[in-house]
Amino acid sequence: MKILNVCGARPNFMKIAPLMRAFAARPINARLVHTGQHYDDNMSKAFFDDLHIPRPDINLEVGSGSHALQTALIMQRFEPVLLDEKPDAVLVVGDVNSTIACGLVAVKLQIPLVHVEAGLRSFDRTMPEEINRLLTDAISDLLFVTEPSGVRNLHREGIDPAKIHLVGNVMIDTLLAHRELAERSDILTRLKLTPKEYGVLTLHRPANVDDPAVLGGILSALEEIQRQTPLVFPVHPRTRGNLERTGLSARLGRMSNLVVTEPLGYLDFLKLMSSARVVLTDSGGIQEETTVLGVPCLTLRANTERPVTVEQGTNQVVGMSPDAILAGYRRVLAGYVRPRVPELWDGKAAERIADILLRWHAGRSRPGGA
Ligand code: UD1
Repeated sequence: MKILNVCGARPNFMKIAPLMRAFAARPINARLVHTGQHYDDNMSKAFFDDLHIPRPDINLEVGSGSHALQTALIMQRFEPVLLDEKPDAVLVVGDVNSTIACGLVAVKLQIPLVHVEAGLRSFDRTMPEEINRLLTDAISDLLFVTEPSGVRNLHREGIDPAKIHLVGNVMIDTLLAHRELAERSDILTRLKLTPKEYGVLTLHRPANVDDPAVLGGILSALEEIQRQTPLVFPVHPRTRGNLERTGLSARLGRMSNLVVTEPLGYLDFLKLMSSARVVLTDSGGIQEETTVLGVPCLTLRANTERPVTVEQGTNQVVGMSPDAILAGYRRVLAGYVRPRVPELWDGKAAERIADILLRWHAGRSRPGGA
């Protein structure tokens, strides 16, 4: 069985890593395409190194651009690759522009599409990722889901239940596989931090960082928090650009207990999260990772597509207003969380996916198979 696997942006790399490993251990010819949506060393290469992901067989080198431009360029460059490679299936992960772009090309060439991390819904169509998720799921032949809400969402959207498999979370496969190694990172010493006495912050969503009023409000909450709890802020390139453009970086610079760093590699960031008192973020994946680590998470968004992290995990969705962020922070200090690890988040999701794919392929190859 030949599978063409697609990755493109930072959150894809920790999802593709355990899949490539599971495929390598089975009679599966797994080829890897990097679209080049993320291209900086610290947004891309660092993850291939830390996670021992095989070098991509093909790099489409699309780079940055508007959504339409980026999506179109990925499609244009992926089509000849697919015609040449002729795989039995194309596998896409997550919800980034590379996911929908390559998915569309595959189905138009009538090559079966496999979506890993299907079914998540924020019900907020102003999020580009929500559009990518809805569309990718609508055209996929096999949908691998991380949490029960995803299965319910797909049923409600009329997806054939035979295509849907609740398998757990490949991002958590990567976390569990690298926890011990991450313990050896010296990031705490480098940043002069004491375990459980600091917080970590990440921000990159357009809804938070493109509007100076929203970003300014978040900074007001941070000014308050860092007086009590030192904060580390690895800054996403989009956020860095906006902070500089709007002059808000000067305000950050005045916070004496907040350290700004470049985006960190996987192992350093995992160590930083696992020893933190609190994590503040607008990322999707970090809500899941903190749930498994048992570290309190404040999600600076109006909603989440990952409700299991709130129902069972450590996540509080607090929104973007300074008062609500501070109220969430105080609940954390008061010992608010009682985490449980969601079902099937056990480090074996990629293996389940690989086995299901082999059975599916065997069924199709039999005479009369679908
Ligand atoms: C993308 C994903 C988002 C994911 C995030 C993680 C979509 C719609 N969004 O958002 O779901 O959570 O990745 O980072 O696909 N840039 C660099 N170097 C890079 C990559 C980006 O400098 O290696 C800068 C560019 O100025 C670019 C901007 O970051 O314009 C945004 O990059 P882009 O890939 O368009 O989206 P993200 O905001 O990273």
